[in-house]
Amino acid sequence: MLEHVVLHNFKSHKSTKLSFDSSRLYALVGKNSAGKTSVLQALHYLSRLASSPFKNVFQYERSPQFITTIGEKDMSVTASGFWGYTNRQDWEASYSWKQENNLWNPTASWKINNGHENSLEGWEKSLSQSPHPIPISLRHTVHLKLVASNLAKPTYSDELTPRVEFDGSGLAPTLDFLRDEAPDKFQELQEMLRRIVPGVREVGIRRAKVAVNRQRSIEVNGKFISYEETQEMTGQEVVLDMNTGERIPAHAISEGTMLTLGLLAVLMNPTQPNLVLLDDVEQGLHPKAQRELMTVFKEIIQSNKNLQILFSTHSPYIVDELVPSQVYILNNTNSGFTIAKRLDEHPDVEWAKQTLTTGEFWDAEGEDWVVAGEVSD
Ligand SMILES: Nc1ncnc2c1ncn2[C@@H]1O[C@H](COP(=O)(O)OP(=O)(O)OP(=O)(O)O)[C@@H](O)[C@H]1O
Ligand SMILES: [Mg+2]
Repeated sequence: MLEHVVLHNFKSHKSTKLSFDSSRLYALVGKNSAGKTSVLQALHYLSRLASSPFKNVFQYERSPQFITTIGEKDMSVTASGFWGYTNRQDWEASYSWKQENNLWNPTASWKINNGHENSLEGWEKSLSQSPHPIPISLRHTVHLKLVASNLAKPTYSDELTPRVEFDGSGLAPTLDFLRDEAPDKFQELQEMLRRIVPGVREVGIRRAKVAVNRQRSIEVNGKFISYEETQEMTGQEVVLDMNTGERIPAHAISEGTMLTLGLLAVLMNPTQPNLVLLDDVEQGLHPKAQRELMTVFKEIIQSNKNLQILFSTHSPYIVDELVPSQVYILNNTNSGFTIAKRLDEHPDVEWAKQTLTTGEFWDAEGEDWVVAGEVSD
C-alpha cells in the first residue's frame, strides 16, 4: 500500500509530497500543466523499475534530460508504504540521478522496516533486487490513458494472459481471457458497465482479421538483413449488444462506453493490479455516468483490499463523490513550479463539509489558495 510519495526536481515538481489515506481512492485536480500527469508518471516509472533496469525504463522521452527539472542536476522520486495488514512490513523505495561531468548517474535505493538503506548505482540496475515487500508492492501497477479508438481496434494476441495496454490496445483478447478464466468477474463487469451506460445489454467478443507487423530477417551473403512483414492473422474484436441493436462492433460504439469498458477490464482482471494510475478519468462520460463510475470504483476497492486508485480529473462531478482528504489540488507558483495541497488542508474545510459538496467546495475555492503565501521563486 502506497502511503507517501515525494518528487524532487521531477519536471515541474521541485519538491512535492503527497500522502494517501486508507480510503484507497484519490483524485489529482488542477489547471492544465499543473503537474497531475507528472505525478502518475513518476509512480509508473517507479513500478517499472521494480522489474526493469534504469536503461530500459528511462529512454527516449523518459531520458533524464527530459524528466529532470530544466536547469537542475539531480532528481529523485521516493515512495513509501507497507505490505500486509496483520504482519505489516514498511518499505521505502526511490530512484534518483545526479549529473556529473555531463553524465547522468542513476541510483536505486530502498529501506525496509526503517532499517539500513541499501542502494545500487548504474544503468544496469533496478529495484528488482530489493527485498520482498518492495517489488511485490510496486510491480502490479498499471498506468492508463485510454483512447477509445485503440480499445475498439481488433487485436491479435499470443500472450498467455493478455492485458489492456497504456493506450487501450489489447481490450478484446483481455475480455476473451476474462470470460474464459473468470466468468463470474466477466458477469460482474457487464453488470457494472450496464449501471454506468444503461444502454448496454451484453458484451461479446468475436473473431476478426487483424494486420500484424512482424520483424523478420533473411541472410544474404552471410549478413542478416531485417525487414518488416505484414501478416493477416485472426484476432478478436469487441461487439456489444445495445438497446438499439445487437452485435454492434466496437468501432461503432460510443467513446464513453468503450472507455468505461476498458477501465472495468483492467480493474476486474484476475491478475488485478495493486495500484491503478488513471489519467483524465472522466473523458467522454456524462455527469451521471461519472458519478456511477465513482460508485463502481468504490465497490471494486471494497472487494479488493490491496487495490488503490489514483487518478487525475477536471470534473467537479467526480470530485463530488469524494471527501476532501481524497482530493489533491495542484497549482503552479509564479515561476510555474507545482505546489500540491490536500483539500482538507484548506482552512475552511470543516465549515465546507457542513455546507457544500466536495465539488462545490473546489469550484468555490479554486486553486489559488494552494499557492497563497508561497514565497515567489
Ligand atoms: N523537464 C522539465 N522541467 C521543467 N518543467 C517541465 C519539464 N517537463 C515538463 N515540465 C512542465 O510540466 C508540465 C507538465 O505537466 P503535466 O503534464 O503533469 O500537467 P497536467 O496537470 O497533467 O495538465 P493537463 O490537465 O493539461 O493534462 C508541462 O506543461 C511543463 O510546463
Ligand atoms: Mg495531464
